[in-house]
Amino acid sequence: MSAGKIDVRPQWWDNIFAPSSCLVIITTVDKAGRVNAASYGTCTRVCHDPMYISFTCGTSKDTYANVLATGEFVVNVVPFEQKMLDKVLICGLPFKAGVNELDKAGLTAIPSRKLKSPRVAECRSHFECRVEWTHPWVHRLMVCGKVEAVSIDADCITGDGFIVWDKVKPAHYCGMRYADRFVPAYNNPTRGVWRYDGHDDEFRDGENWRAAYHSVD
Ligand SMILES: Cc1cc2nc3c(=O)[nH]c(=O)nc-3n(C[C@H](O)[C@H](O)[C@H](O)COP(=O)(O)O)c2cc1C
Repeated sequence: MSAGKIDVRPQWWDNIFAPSSCLVIITTVDKAGRVNAASYGTCTRVCHDPMYISFTCGTSKDTYANVLATGEFVVNVVPFEQKMLDKVLICGLPFKAGVNELDKAGLTAIPSRKLKSPRVAECRSHFECRVEWTHPWVHRLMVCGKVEAVSIDADCITGDGFIVWDKVKPAHYCGMRYADRFVPAYNNPTRGVWRYDGHDDEFRDGENWRAAYHSVD
């Protein structure tokens, strides 16, 4: 394991993938163990507990072939830093099967904790996923993976298991038509303060709706 990365205890896994969709590099391997990396702007945590992460890929892509061949993938959260955003664009290029995009982009593969697909050392947090199900539609494959291990740079997690926002620096991709544009997803996280003069019979039985969405600190 690389110096500086620590394993996250399972009860905190969900805290670490924040915000719940963000820019990532997904690493996979083919049957021969050759590493592949691809950029994804639309990767989302879709279940808290157990924790599942989902994304879609095109059926002509290496990620598609590798996920179906091996049943695993690793999600690496990309920090909003100029040199990393530059490299993410390289990982999105249509290299031939068997080409390691991490080498092409000047990124470093380090072994994962449980899976064959590597982690990307320069990313701050990593989610190792086994494919739970896939669903093909149009020219795409929806992939849903169960998180099996989470790790993070030691200085990027607080003592109570939340991310240090300005160290993890999660980002969003603006989308294909914006080509090379990104926005930060961590600047000054702002609280929503809500008040609702409701009655219990408006809500599902057993729900403590008055206590919902109030942060503890
Ligand atoms: C910043 C960025 C974000 C991207 N997001 C997505 C995405 O959300 N979904 C997708 O299917 N492709 C996305 N792509 C395109 C893939 O990265 C691209 O098709 C890549 O070549 C796939 O690699 P592969 O063939 O090695 O799997 C994105 C590309 C970039 C540069």
